[in-house]
Amino acid sequence: MGSAVKPVHERLPVALRQLIDRLWLVANSVSVRVKILGIVLGMVLLLGGSITWQVRVALETALERELQSRAVSITRDVAARSVDLLLINDLFRTHQLLGDTLENNPDVRYAFIVGPDGEVLAHTFEGGFPPGLIQANRAAPTERHRLQLLATEEGHIWDAAVPIFDGRAGTARVGLSEANLRRTLDSVTWQLLLTTVVVSLVGVGAAMLLTWLITRPILDLVRVTRAVAAGDLSQRAPHRTDDEIGTLSLSFNAMVHDLAEARRASEAVQAALREKEAARGELLEQIIAAQEEERKRVARELHDGAGQALTSLMVGLKVLSGLRTPEEIQSQIGDLRGIAAETLEAVRDLALELRPSVLDDLGLAAAIARYAAECQRRFNLRVDSRCVGFDGRRLPPAVEAALYRIAQEALVNVARHSGARQASVLLEWNDGAVRLLVEDNGRGFDPVAPGRERKLGLYGMQERADLIGGRLHIESEPGVGTLVVVEVPVPTAHDQLSHFP
Ligand SMILES: Nc1ncnc2c1ncn2[C@@H]1O[C@H](COP(=O)(O)OP(=O)(O)OP(=O)(O)O)[C@@H](O)[C@H]1O
Ligand SMILES: [Mg+2]
Repeated sequence: MGSAVKPVHERLPVALRQLIDRLWLVANSVSVRVKILGIVLGMVLLLGGSITWQVRVALETALERELQSRAVSITRDVAARSVDLLLINDLFRTHQLLGDTLENNPDVRYAFIVGPDGEVLAHTFEGGFPPGLIQANRAAPTERHRLQLLATEEGHIWDAAVPIFDGRAGTARVGLSEANLRRTLDSVTWQLLLTTVVVSLVGVGAAMLLTWLITRPILDLVRVTRAVAAGDLSQRAPHRTDDEIGTLSLSFNAMVHDLAEARRASEAVQAALREKEAARGELLEQIIAAQEEERKRVARELHDGAGQALTSLMVGLKVLSGLRTPEEIQSQIGDLRGIAAETLEAVRDLALELRPSVLDDLGLAAAIARYAAECQRRFNLRVDSRCVGFDGRRLPPAVEAALYRIAQEALVNVARHSGARQASVLLEWNDGAVRLLVEDNGRGFDPVAPGRERKLGLYGMQERADLIGGRLHIESEPGVGTLVVVEVPVPTAHDQLSHFP
C-alpha cells in the first residue's frame, strides 16, 4: 500500500466528483418545498421504474418459455396426427390438419410438413411458400424436436421442427409469432407506468401538503424575524402546532417579548436622563440668576447701608474737626461711635447671611441648631433639633455644606408649604454613615405625582445629595406629614483623620 489513504470522496473520478458537488450545490440552494418534492418524486419514479423493468423482464422470460413449450407441443401434436395421413399419402386431410392447427391457435403463424426428401408436402401459406424457410430450421431424425428463433419482417417467430416417424415420413414445422407476447408485455408495461404516474401525482400532492404544513410556520417565523429586525417588536409568530417548530415559535416569541421589555426599560431610562438633564440646566440658570440677584442685593446693602453710614461718618468727622469745646467734641464722638457700631452690625449680618461662619467654625451640628433657632424668629416655626454620635468629630467640608443647605431647604419648605407650626431635625452619625432627618406633621404631598409642577427646591436637594455620594428619600402622605431623609456614607479612615482636636 504505497499511496496515502484518501477519503472515499477524493477517490472518485474527477467528473463524478464535480457532478456530485454541483448536485449538492443545487440541492442546497433550492427551497425546502422543492427539496421534499424532489425526494418524493425521485423515490416514486425510481421505485415505479425499477418495478416496471423487473416485472417486464420476469414476465418476458416466463411468457417466452411458455411460448416455446407451446410451439414444441403443438408441433408434436401435428407430427403425431399427420403420421397416418402421410403414410397413406392423404395430402388433402394433412392440409386440413394444418389449417385446423392454424385456426385453433392464435399464436401459430404458419405450419407445414417437409417430406423426407426436403420437399414441402403441405403448408398454410396463402401467397406462396417463403424461400429459405425450410433451411432455417432442421431437426435430425434422432432429435425429438428443435427450436429456432427466426427474425422475420413480422417480428420474431419461434420455429419448432419435430421429425415424423423418426424422420422417415418427413418433418412437421410450426411457427409461433411473438407478436401477442409483445402486445401483452407492452400492455402490462403501460399499465405499470400509468400506475407509477398516478402514484407520482398522489405523492406530489401529499408532498405539497406536507411541505405546506411544515414550511408555513417556518415562513411565519421568517416574516416575523424580518419585522423584528426592522424594529417592529410588536410582531409575534403564530403558534400553530405543538411540535419542535411550535416550541421554536414559543421561544422566539418569548425572546421578542424580552427584547421589547428591555427596549421599554432603556427608553424609560433615557427619558429619565433627558428629564434630569433638563432640570439640571434649569437649576444652573436659576443658580446663575440667584447669584446675580444676590450680588445686586449685597451691592445695594453695601451702598445703602455701609456706604451711607461711612458717608455720615465722614461728614461727622468733618464736623468734629470744626468743633471747639470738649463737650461738643465728646458728644460728636459718641454719635460717631454709634454710627460705627451700627455699620459694624450691618456688615456682620450681611456676612452671616452670605455664609454662616458658625458652619466653618463650629461645624454642622451647631450651624443646624442655630438655623433651627432662627426659624422661630423668621417663620414662627418651632424646630426641635437633635444631634447624635458626632462626639466632636467633623465631616468633610463639602458634606457639611451640602447637608446644611438640604436642611435649610427642607425647613423652608415646611414653613412655606406644610402649614405645620412645628418640625424636628435629627442628625445622627453611626455605622459609617451620616443621616439627616427633617420631619413635619403638616399637610404633606405626593412626591411622585405625575404632572406636578417642577420646582427646583426638591431637585436641588437631590442633586446635592448625589454630589456627595448620598441618597435622598422623601416620604410624604397628604394629611399625614412629610419626612425627608438623607443618608451619606462616611469612610471610616476619614473619621479618624478629621477628628476635631
Ligand atoms: N414639607 C412639605 N409639606 C408639604 N408640601 C411640601 C413640602 N415640601 C415640599 N412640598 C410640596 O412640594 C413642592 C415642591 O417643593 P420645592 O421645594 O421643590 O419647590 P418650592 O418650595 O415650591 O419652590 P422653590 O424652588 O423655591 O423651593 C412644593 O411646591 C410643595 O407643594
Ligand atoms: Mg422649596
